[in-house]
Amino acid sequence: MSRNLHGKRAVVTGASGGIGRAIAVELAKAGVRVALAARSADKLAEVADAIGGDALAVPTDVTKPADRENLIRETVARFGGLDLLVNVAGVGSWGHFATSTEAINRTVMEVNFFAPVELIRLAVPHLTNGNDPAICNLTSMCARRGMPAWPEYSASKFALVGMTEALRGEMARYDIDVITIVPGLTKSDLNRNLLRSDGKATIPYDKGMTVEYVAARTVDAIRRSKREIVLGIEAKKILTMNRLAPRFVNWLIARNVTKLYREN
Ligand SMILES: NC(=O)c1ccc[n+]([C@@H]2O[C@H](COP(=O)([O-])OP(=O)(O)OC[C@H]3O[C@@H](n4cnc5c(N)ncnc54)[C@H](OP(=O)(O)O)[C@@H]3O)[C@@H](O)[C@H]2O)c1
Repeated sequence: MSRNLHGKRAVVTGASGGIGRAIAVELAKAGVRVALAARSADKLAEVADAIGGDALAVPTDVTKPADRENLIRETVARFGGLDLLVNVAGVGSWGHFATSTEAINRTVMEVNFFAPVELIRLAVPHLTNGNDPAICNLTSMCARRGMPAWPEYSASKFALVGMTEALRGEMARYDIDVITIVPGLTKSDLNRNLLRSDGKATIPYDKGMTVEYVAARTVDAIRRSKREIVLGIEAKKILTMNRLAPRFVNWLIARNVTKLYREN
């Protein structure tokens, strides 16, 4: 069954840039009324302007409980309800665990795990009264295969994917679809917003997917109520190889990391 998006009421976090902005634009094109959330008020206002209609900009730090409550409250007040929650806001940290900190670990978990989960908790009472409701969580290929130099990020995305899977079963009784997006490398500002950036490998960010492609596939997954989609050839290759030959992948990764550390 295909979900008719026209007239749906959505919250999109991380909507000030990158993948979140592109998803908000794509949803709006499909006739969705979108509430845009992120910390950068100026960028949100610009996105709301670009979308037009009754797009609602709600400056929000998703790690703050009062901001999360305000986001859901303002959205429901403006649109009269909520049908879609799209959790996109995220932060990365690119560096090895031995030289990382508890503060980085906690920040990454706050943004990438606790915030989306607590937003879901606030949204569910409204989604249960929504029209063909859905929750869509942006995770990462690191949610399905932990990657060296992304230890906190991988853990946060594994946690989110675990919660998402568990909620899929729980939400079925409310008829709320729960959708997992597992993107590989994407050209966004993620690399410029990293909490830390001293991992040894060179990541070809410029070869990543476009945010428009990820957004189009995400909106398609919402429309078609897909359970989980993996995006990007590299992500598909690595995750397939990891499923078929996990010990080989472990060996390959350990060999590469050891080599990189020996050279640098
Ligand atoms: N780029 C990739 O290669 C890639 C691959 C797989 C998955 N992903 C995931 O895709 C999602 C979007 O990332 P992106 O690539 O589009 O990165 P991005 O360009 O850095 O965008 C991150 C977004 O998250 C928002 N954000 C960060 N911390 C926030 C906070 N505390 N409260 C509210 N909003 C916050 C940022 O807005 P403000 O700074 O204005 O708050 C921004 O809108 C993330 O969950 C990321 O993990 C990215």
